Amino acid sequence: MNKVITYGTFDLLHYGHINLLKRAKALGDYLIVGVTSDSYDLERGKLNVQQSLLQRIDNVRATGFADEIIVEEFEGQKIFDIQKMGINTFVIGSDWEGKFDYLKEYCDVVYLERTRGISSTALRQKDYDIVSIGIIGSGRIAKRFVKESKYVSGVNIEGVFNPNITSAQKFKEQEELQFATDDLKDFFSMISAVYIASPHQTHFGYIMEALKAGKHVLCEKPLTLTKQETMLAYDYARKEKLVLLEAIKTAYCPAFKHMLLLAKSGRIGNIKDIEASFTKLVAGNIRELRVDMSGGSINELSSYVLLPIVKLLGTEYKKL
Ligand code: CTP
Repeated sequence: MNKVITYGTFDLLHYGHINLLKRAKALGDYLIVGVTSDSYDLERGKLNVQQSLLQRIDNVRATGFADEIIVEEFEGQKIFDIQKMGINTFVIGSDWEGKFDYLKEYCDVVYLERTRGISSTALRQKDYDIVSIGIIGSGRIAKRFVKESKYVSGVNIEGVFNPNITSAQKFKEQEELQFATDDLKDFFSMISAVYIASPHQTHFGYIMEALKAGKHVLCEKPLTLTKQETMLAYDYARKEKLVLLEAIKTAYCPAFKHMLLLAKSGRIGNIKDIEASFTKLVAGNIRELRVDMSGGSINELSSYVLLPIVKLLGTEYKKL
């Protein structure tokens, strides 16, 4: 028997999916369809999938092409499935051309021409706006953010603000954004959310300007340099029903979240003590580590080590 396998999210089933499944089925005798789990989609940046895993499985079943449906739960599962189920052919749409060549070691890999003019993303856009994001700051960290954002659905990085227009222009060109500006008012008029990656001591000012302009804010850590400023910013955001989020990526890492769940489940007993450290060898005069400008290494790094402590033991400390 010639076994074929394919994978996908299959959100808001459309004729592109049906075309793909039909042709996949025709390539063999038995078609297995892997539908991505909700957590796997979140992990790979598909943040705005509309239908639940069960609905999406029902979608695939309703096409009548799948002989078997499985759930794709983790990175690397494809090799495991192919070996376990003795798959002869792996099939995927041409939008993935080349990406799965590594599977050729295990079975045939076929890229089928994607149906033009339709996608789940396009269907979702009818009901949900794409969040247009502008970046304040155009340094090293901002660059990483643009790169990563390409993996996230439902958002688009539109442009960049920097008081130094030459630097903003350069960033715009390099990252292929729509605009660069040194005028904050113009900047806010072109976006709906802001990512702040400017020097630490400027965070608070930009946060407040953005909130006052009615924009949601994601700001690099440390959010501000004092407790009062942080409280002010959160109070204001709450009052205006705007999102204000500190960009501590570790807090959202699947492995970190899993560790917290395990620890909270009591698996290792009652937690009495947490030791966390973050050390870094740096050369030169790093802006973020300068006490006079940014508050030094405590402001730069301590959020990472405080994170497991706060998450597991809470914030009601007796002594600091
Ligand atoms: N597919 C296709 N033609 C389309 C859309 C999808 O052939 N117009 C294929 C994909 O290449 C993949 C399978 O259908 O092999 C499932 O893809 P999925 O990611 O669920 O579909 P998309 O509509 O591309 O979803 P999204 O917009 O969320 O990325």
